[in-house]
Amino acid sequence: MQIWNRRHFLKTAAAVSAATVAASRAVAATGKNVFLLTPEQEPARPVAANDHIQIALIGAGGQGMYDTSEAIQVPGVKLVAVADCYNGRLERSKELWGADTFTTRDYNEILARKDVDAVIIGTPDHWHKQASIDSMKAGKDVYCEKPMIHIYSDGPAMIETAKTSNRIIQIGSQRVSSIIYAKAKDLLASGAIGKLNMVTARWDRNSSMGAWNYTIPPDASPETCDWPRFEGTAPKIPFSAERFFQWRKWKDYGTGVAGDLFVHLFSGTHFITGSHGPTQGMATGGLRYWKDGRDALDVVLGLFDYPQAFNLSLRVNFVDGGDESEGLLFTGDEGTMEIGGGWVSINRVPREKDPGLTIDTFPKAMQAQIEAEHAKKYPRQHPEGAPAAGFEKFVAPDGYSDSYDHFKNFFASVRSRKPVVEDAVFGYRAAGAALLSNLSIQKKEVIKWDPEEMKLLS
Ligand SMILES: NC(=O)c1ccc[n+]([C@@H]2O[C@H](COP(=O)([O-])OP(=O)(O)OC[C@H]3O[C@@H](n4cnc5c(N)ncnc54)[C@H](O)[C@@H]3O)[C@@H](O)[C@H]2O)c1
Repeated sequence: MQIWNRRHFLKTAAAVSAATVAASRAVAATGKNVFLLTPEQEPARPVAANDHIQIALIGAGGQGMYDTSEAIQVPGVKLVAVADCYNGRLERSKELWGADTFTTRDYNEILARKDVDAVIIGTPDHWHKQASIDSMKAGKDVYCEKPMIHIYSDGPAMIETAKTSNRIIQIGSQRVSSIIYAKAKDLLASGAIGKLNMVTARWDRNSSMGAWNYTIPPDASPETCDWPRFEGTAPKIPFSAERFFQWRKWKDYGTGVAGDLFVHLFSGTHFITGSHGPTQGMATGGLRYWKDGRDALDVVLGLFDYPQAFNLSLRVNFVDGGDESEGLLFTGDEGTMEIGGGWVSINRVPREKDPGLTIDTFPKAMQAQIEAEHAKKYPRQHPEGAPAAGFEKFVAPDGYSDSYDHFKNFFASVRSRKPVVEDAVFGYRAAGAALLSNLSIQKKEVIKWDPEEMKLLS
């Protein structure tokens, strides 16, 4: 076993991180072994006028509006148009981004505009495929929110269109651009926790909002909401304000906790480990508390195999009965690495080389003989010095936004035409893995998946 040594570790970590991100520096005020990560600086080169990128937003709900507010902070990026199915959100878009912002219920009007270079797709999951494909075919680059797919056949169709249209598509799992996840990737690669054997992650909530019960506006009606357009390919039913504004609760539009939250945990795990995905997944779950007419479960546990590498266990609980918490724990044979909101920490408690003795039950003379041999083999003075326990925490600066970095990376690719950090293949591998949980629960079976070919095998 290699005894961990901080200098060695920082050196190797720095060597790996050169390719990805940021130096770290100690934070004197917050104590020993806590380091503040420094985000990459903006490129020194000023953005030329003809480098301007004009964007439009398709789906201006909570995430679409948040995404846009981050995206337009990237130098040289301007919003010109918004499409949404609810009048109130079109009105709000003009309040936020100016009365001259073009708004429409029909995103095709946006795709027909020559002054739109790229679109952000913040629709419910069941529209991701169609809106992305229509946008790419209209010559627009695409930032599509996670989960990339609603059903498995969405994945190959989106990948194929990205190829044939030669458009950039980035999926919106922002952790892939996070300095915290980049640091975690470096730490793992540098051997900070030894050889990885297990990843466990959780995303627990304990609130009505956390369980997707978003506010329904008082004017919600078939007049203010374009219900047929919202429904798209979903089964046709009469207008339901609840389904319109709280769509995650129904499989017709959403992908359950698997597509909403597991997918972030998969994206993070795949980014950090470089893995393409599990070969099989199994899940169990139930509707334990939010029995309000929804058909999506509020408790889901999933287990996934990454052969020759590690095992993954994921959990989402919308009724955790206490402190809401989320995070990932990577376990290696020399330590653990934990990721929380805005930080990553390493904890090493190396095993003693001396295996110890359990000899009390043996005859006295034999005990003495074993002890003498043991003392020769494992002298008191450890040849490599006392095993070094270690704890280090790397923290993102206040106000750090991985969403901003994800957009910065996206627009860099839009300009350079170089590959994005999270393309449709990465997005499909993450979402395809996540949705194994839904299939497993539905079929009550272990579901096999080929992560290289991105194909269901059962
Ligand atoms: N990356 C993240 O951390 C993150 C966080 C939250 C949500 N999301 C994702 O963002 C997406 C949107 O989630 P949300 O919470 O903003 O939902 P939301 O309900 O607040 O917003 C969705 C909007 O899409 C509009 N819409 C529906 N069909 C449309 C169509 N055909 N054309 C134009 N607009 C249409 C709706 O009118 C609605 O305003 C989801 O896929 C979700 O998984 C990602």
